[in-house]
Amino acid sequence: MRRLEIMALVATMVAGSGAAVLAQGPAGGPPPPPPYQTRAQMPPGDRVAAGRNGAALFSNRCGVCHLAGGMGTNLLTKQRLAAGFAPDSALLANRTDLTRGYVKAVVRNGKMAMPRLSRVEVTDAELDAIARYLGKAGE
Ligand code: HEC
Repeated sequence: MRRLEIMALVATMVAGSGAAVLAQGPAGGPPPPPPYQTRAQMPPGDRVAAGRNGAALFSNRCGVCHLAGGMGTNLLTKQRLAAGFAPDSALLANRTDLTRGYVKAVVRNGKMAMPRLSRVEVTDAELDAIARYLGKAGE
């Protein structure tokens, strides 16, 4: 008898948590995926040619970690808050203090929890475009 009660309790909890997840979504569907999971497609064209689309490349190549909800954004939120900056400065696209040279150095060498990215993952032409997009503080 006691075992049956426990099984009934567990069944209620499982059913309850399922309902809670569904309740967040529109019209009973699953919740919409977060931005870091819906990043831009890789822009078409020659990956080593100049003039690539920096915003789209940033979303596609870096977005898994650096769009809202990504692990890079989450880690940088803690760092930025601890340093006295607004939490939305954890999104690299909101930063105005990044230089192009700094962005390139971080991408090629890595920084703490960020792995370095090779020229296969991000070509020099693509990194130029991304650095131009993020590096609002100039060279
Ligand atoms: C695998 C996840 C991941 C990817 C992919 C990634 N990053 Fe990062 N990035 C991080 C993490 C985590 C940090 C914070 C590192 C730390 O301080 O521990 C970071 C930090 C940075 C910083 C330093 C910010 C600061 O305040 O000093 C820059 C700049 C940066 N990333 C640029 C990029 C660019 C550009 C790309 C794409 C070409 C990229 N990252 C791809 C995870 C990632």
